[in-house]
Amino acid sequence: MNPQERIKILTEELNVHNHKYYVEDNPIISDYQFDMMMKELEALEAEYPQYKLPDSPTQRVGGEFTDKFEQYEHPIKMYSLANTYSEQEIIDFENRIHKALSDDLIGNVEYVCELKYDGLAISLYYEDGVLTHAVTRGDGLTGDDVTANVKTIRTIPLRLSGDYPDEVCIRGEVIMPHKSFAALNEERERNGLQLFANPRNAASGTLKLQDSSEVARRNLDFKPYNIIGDLPCKNHYDCMMQARLWGFKIATGNFLCKCLNINELIGIVNYWDTERDKLNFDIDGIVIKVNDFDMQKMLGETAKFPRWAIAYKFKAETACTELLSVSYQVGRTGVVTPVANLDPVHLAGTTVKRASLHNYDYIQYLDLHLHDYVFVEKGGEIIPKVTGVNIDFRKSDAEKVVFPTICPECGSVLEKNEGEAGSYCTNDKSCPPQIKGRIEHFVSKKAMDIDSIGSETVNLLVDSGLVTNAADLYSLSYNQLFGLERVVTNELGEKERKISIKEKSAQNILNSIEQSKSRPFASVLFALGIRFVGEVSSKHLAKHFGDIDAIINANYDQLIECKEVGDIIANSILSYFADPDNILIINKLKEYGLKFSINKNIAKKKSGSTFEDPLGLFSDYEDNGSTSNSFNLKIDITGKTLVVSGVFSNFSRDEIKQIIEEKGGKVTSSISKSTDYVIAGDNMGPSKRDKATSFGIPIISEYDLFDINQ
Ligand code: IVH
Repeated sequence: MNPQERIKILTEELNVHNHKYYVEDNPIISDYQFDMMMKELEALEAEYPQYKLPDSPTQRVGGEFTDKFEQYEHPIKMYSLANTYSEQEIIDFENRIHKALSDDLIGNVEYVCELKYDGLAISLYYEDGVLTHAVTRGDGLTGDDVTANVKTIRTIPLRLSGDYPDEVCIRGEVIMPHKSFAALNEERERNGLQLFANPRNAASGTLKLQDSSEVARRNLDFKPYNIIGDLPCKNHYDCMMQARLWGFKIATGNFLCKCLNINELIGIVNYWDTERDKLNFDIDGIVIKVNDFDMQKMLGETAKFPRWAIAYKFKAETACTELLSVSYQVGRTGVVTPVANLDPVHLAGTTVKRASLHNYDYIQYLDLHLHDYVFVEKGGEIIPKVTGVNIDFRKSDAEKVVFPTICPECGSVLEKNEGEAGSYCTNDKSCPPQIKGRIEHFVSKKAMDIDSIGSETVNLLVDSGLVTNAADLYSLSYNQLFGLERVVTNELGEKERKISIKEKSAQNILNSIEQSKSRPFASVLFALGIRFVGEVSSKHLAKHFGDIDAIINANYDQLIECKEVGDIIANSILSYFADPDNILIINKLKEYGLKFSINKNIAKKKSGSTFEDPLGLFSDYEDNGSTSNSFNLKIDITGKTLVVSGVFSNFSRDEIKQIIEEKGGKVTSSISKSTDYVIAGDNMGPSKRDKATSFGIPIISEYDLFDINQ
């Protein structure tokens, strides 16, 4: 069988098995068989990128990196929903509908009840059955095109099955199931990253990630709730049933049901108010929709909401319990957070012993006293919060809660800035939680990727005094690490367990510290933890300045010349390097052999080529004598005509053009029938894409052209 046919068959079969596994929950082949077919397809697509199909399941694992999401205009506005919180408001909704409809219709209004999924809205646009654009709600008119990220969601078909309209839009909610959320936060905790407060924030943060392979790892899900297009159905419910035949996972039973009267509706709402705790994802209410499309049209929309639908929102569950004491936690930035220690109370399926009191100002606002009876709420967040005080139970001699004036961790005087709600410890150099925060960031995956050091080990290293800054990590010895132990205490200061570093972990730690020395300059820069300098700005800074000394010596005007660096980042960089302690740490790290430049001269010296490795991405290859000129191409481009369009992750456009010419290809600026390949980066213009497609010219990525890791 020729490769093109085999690619087609594998694509189709894998998509069917994906549907059976994720949508029907009914796999018919083993994971192993699935993986083997996937591997075969990946290999074929790598060899013959021109035959890769637009619904290829290999897109499910991500790999695309988006610098900036393109804006996409929704052909039909994405509306929001009006909220109600009481039975009376549901009755009012029905009355409004009856008023707006003619008398003969009033007795025939049918409603559909659906869960109100707590995630973020997305529009999926399908053309000829193929998913072409997935777009966030944005302001309702224009949103971010997050197609590459959405394609990783397994319950979203990349190609529709059955009998579908030429053009159709499926709207729904992207959610993060509880299991994925728990796994993600556990991992973030291990890597010392800030936790997501709830699955909605996690889903939304994930969909806006630039790296689609990271999105793929996080296991998002999709819940369809609205179908727009030239449809053969007369009502919403039938449309949803149609969408099931196209490959979507559509709710059934009490999850999506037709109701004929208001009492049934209220019954469903109350049923879910108590049952929602049992779901494996978050909902924040029930949506009630008029089923019939003609009636929907008659009722119309306001500027923001359809008049034919309403959301009944559940009230957050509240409990009242006694405040036993207040503890104060110092965060990584020095902010002091008061936490209420409570008489344990049952709330929304769990026992709550502690709740957030937010900050200094909130305690003043509550006029909080010890042994007050406080209201506690769990509003979708993982950490419950104190929402008020029941003054009726306050004893006359109750002691007012006084916010400390010194840091509970290091004893430094706390500061509170005018206009800010929180109080801060400014002793960032030696306050233990702040040191730990910086080290956790330094070792994290996107920074130095020292994966054998998790937050427990950081605690151990800092508490034992072995590490006070990042440079100290590189002087650690086996003898210092092996046997190092620490007693972990619980909230009450009682001994809980002992942790210690065993022989193998000590060696792993040393190995991964050593390996980190080959991390590229951009990652080292990010690892320094300069405030506001994130992963992307680190890459731009590394590319723009080339080495650390150029950044250290740059003035404000020079800094803001760099892409992604504005006023806030520039000032933060200036103040970071104005601190002699930071310069000292950098000098030590340089001595330990970390990369503080992008090695741009190596390529020139070895090959005579003028190609530079601007992001230091290929500097890892220097040891094996490889040169920039030795980029292996996956396809032979000798004598071929190529068009380069868009923004690339690893190269500038000019760099790609230069390499193509070095390899015997010809680069032209516009697409014609004689173009052999279009090398497309992000943000390639739609007209170019359409033209290439209409001429049948293969559109390939930088990863299809170059043999480089994604
Ligand atoms: S219908 C015109 N149905 O809730 C139809 N929305 O608060 C508008 N949502 O923006 C939306 N579950 O993101 C609809 N079953 C459901 C929903 C739902 C969650 C979200 C949606 C919307 C928001 C409004």
